[in-house]
This record gives sequence, structure tokens and C-alpha cells, in this order.
Amino acid sequence: MSYTFSNLDPSLFSQFFTAEFIGIEVLTPAEKALIGKAALKRQNDFSTGRHCARKALGRFGASDTEILTGEVKEPLWPAGFVGSISHSKKLTGAIVAKVENIAAVGLDVETIGGINHDMWDILFTYNEQVFLSTMGDREQALYSTLVFSFKEAFYKLQYPLTKQYVDFKEVGILCTGGHFGLHADSEFNHQMIPRERLILQWDKFDSQVICVCYLPVLR
Ligand SMILES: CC(C)(COP(=O)(O)OP(=O)(O)OC[C@H]1O[C@@H](n2cnc3c(N)ncnc32)[C@H](O)[C@@H]1OP(=O)(O)O)[C@@H](O)C(=O)NCCC(=O)NCCS
Repeated sequence: MSYTFSNLDPSLFSQFFTAEFIGIEVLTPAEKALIGKAALKRQNDFSTGRHCARKALGRFGASDTEILTGEVKEPLWPAGFVGSISHSKKLTGAIVAKVENIAAVGLDVETIGGINHDMWDILFTYNEQVFLSTMGDREQALYSTLVFSFKEAFYKLQYPLTKQYVDFKEVGILCTGGHFGLHADSEFNHQMIPRERLILQWDKFDSQVICVCYLPVLR
């Protein structure tokens, strides 16, 4: 089963998603060394993510690249590229772009309905909770997953630029007229991430939401 995020501009991004698990035989020795002691599920997630990343990089002619990890396990992309990896129970994917076009990108895949009400106070700002409170059960399950997933996607976007941890309540996600953005009153404020230029897009595939957050290079 394959999936493509159709809203993503193919002239800027390359993507690859799979619902299958790919074993660690696709890893280089150095990549295997990073994950060799982990549980099998984690090894499979890691190798499937690397597989997706190499497939995505392949469209830019860089499919044989090793992707090691940084200080907090963030993926280290080959020179000239930015990218992001995510895995849920049902779908794994990677999105990459050239740094001349995209300054940073974050991808997150989540299963709809995974956010219980008792997690709201940890994950969501006051405004987000008000926004979600107005919804019926089905809509709430979708939108609470989306708000959470956009925060994770944003975290993955911002980390390579700022090297900072950002807490869930430092970032506010707002949805107006079906379009998502970062709250104007969000506490997150970093000169390398101009909030007004961030683009947030999402898609739904079966029981999964796919959230992408990216920062285009200013021309
Ligand atoms: C790091 C984190 C975002 C990963 O998200 P997740 O839903 O648990 O897992 P996903 O499968 O979607 O993503 C995992 C992938 O993210 C990437 N990743 C991990 N840390 C990262 C970082 N600091 N920066 C960018 N990418 C990172 C890795 O590629 C990883 O996969 P891999 O180990 O197989 O290479 C999450 O575990 C976390 O720590 N969140 C807390 C911070 C946060 O989200 N704040 C929200 C407000 S900004």
C-alpha cells in the first residue's frame, strides 16, 4: 500500500511513504550501530524510515546517502538537503527538499483518536482547548490529533535550526477556515523561525493524519 501527500509541491519536495516494515538489512554498518541494541519494533521503525528517506533522496540523485543522527537523535541529512522522517503504527514516511528552496521541514504521522481528553492540559494551550471544546466527538478526535501532530511536525522543523527543546504549551496551533497556522500569541519566538512564513499542510489517509510544516527560503 502506498501513499502520496498530494498537496506537496513536487517541484520543491520529494517524498516516500510505505505501510510496510523494511528490515535492518537496508541500513549501512554505521546506521546499524546506532540502532543495533534497540527492540525489534524500534529497529524496524528506524530502518523503514531510512529506507523512505533514501527513496525520497533518490529523486534528487542522492539515494546512496547514509543518514546518521545528531545529539538528540535527529537525522543528519546530506549536505544541501533538509528533510524529516515520521512513523506511526500504520505508515512511515520521509520528505526531503533542497536547502536552496526550503530552509526546514517537519513531518509527523499520527493515528486519529490517540489524544485523550486527560492529555489536553499537558499538550494544548488554553486557546487550543477552547477551539477543540466546541466540537463533537468525531471532529474532536480528528482535530486534537491534528493540533498535536502539527506541534510535533513544528518541533522537527525548528530543532535543526535552533537546537532548542520546545514544550507543547510554548507553541499554539490555530485553525481558521480550515487553514492551520502558529498562534500569534504563541510563546515560541526565535529569529530563525519567522512564524508568518511557516506553511502548515495536512492530509488524511485511512486512520492516519499526515502533517507537514515547512519554511520556504525567501527569494
Ligand atoms: C522527537 C519527537 C518530535 C518525535 O516524534 P514522535 O511522534 O515521537 O515520533 P515520529 O515517528 O513522528 O518521529 C521520529 C523521527 O523524528 C526524527 N527526530 C527525532 N528527534 C528529532 C529532532 N530533535 N529534530 C528533528 N527530527 C527529529 C527522527 O528521524 C525520528 O525517527 P528515527 O529515529 O527513526 O530517525 C517527539 O518524540 C518529541 O520528543 N516531542 C517533544 C517535543 C515536542 O514535540 N514539542 C512540541 C512543541 S514544538
